[in-house]
Amino acid sequence: MAETDAVPQDPIRRYSNVTVAIHWTTVALVLLQIWLGLSLDDLKGAARANTFDWHKTIGVTILLLTIGRLTYRLSNPPPAFSPDVPSWERIAAVWNHRLFYLLLIGLPIGGYVAVSGFVGGKPTTLVGGITVPTLPGISKQMGELAGEAHGALAWGLIALIAVHFLAAMKHQFINHAPASGRMPPFRPPHGEETVVGQGHGATPIEAARA
Ligand code: HEM
Repeated sequence: MAETDAVPQDPIRRYSNVTVAIHWTTVALVLLQIWLGLSLDDLKGAARANTFDWHKTIGVTILLLTIGRLTYRLSNPPPAFSPDVPSWERIAAVWNHRLFYLLLIGLPIGGYVAVSGFVGGKPTTLVGGITVPTLPGISKQMGELAGEAHGALAWGLIALIAVHFLAAMKHQFINHAPASGRMPPFRPPHGEETVVGQGHGATPIEAARA
């Protein structure tokens, strides 16, 4: 079954608690990370160094969390869409999510390459004085290029978040779509029942009814 296919469902299938917990933790970390990243330009000296240590630490955390999330997702595919979501919206949602994964991995890696160029391959520090090795053989010029790409991709991520947020609001408050309950604590607007539908095949309730 393709990821964009729709399956009639009652109750509405939703994401598992593992995905929901990772989703909202990622949201908090990404918003904090964007704020820290944008603050860097206005800071100097110790305040900048401290903010930068937090930026690198949160970046590594987002990268590891995203790799864990993708690994989990491979054996637990997302809940199938319900037919009340039009086909163009299903395609847009799937691509929005794919681009999120690409950026949540590409952005920290771009930052890592940039830091490697700036420190000339020497280890770099995270919060708590933890040191991590950097990539050897990255010139200052390559680091600067990676830093520029990192900044541009960050704006891409901000745009993606805006589209994603507006789509969720549209489903909840304009369409009053039952599918709004896919990512708790959001609930379907008319109080329809939901069930964890992440994984293969029918949900246990649907299987019992079949
Ligand atoms: C940093 C911000 C965010 C990121 C990186 C993010 C990322 C994602 C990703 C990757 C998925 C797909 C999960 C999967 O299939 O594996 C998803 C689903 C979802 N997110 Fe977000 N999200 C963010 C913010 C938000 C916000 C602010 C809201 C609500 C206002 C929201 C509501 C939802 C909903 C409702 C879904 C389920 C969509 C569906 O499959 O029908 N997200 N998000």
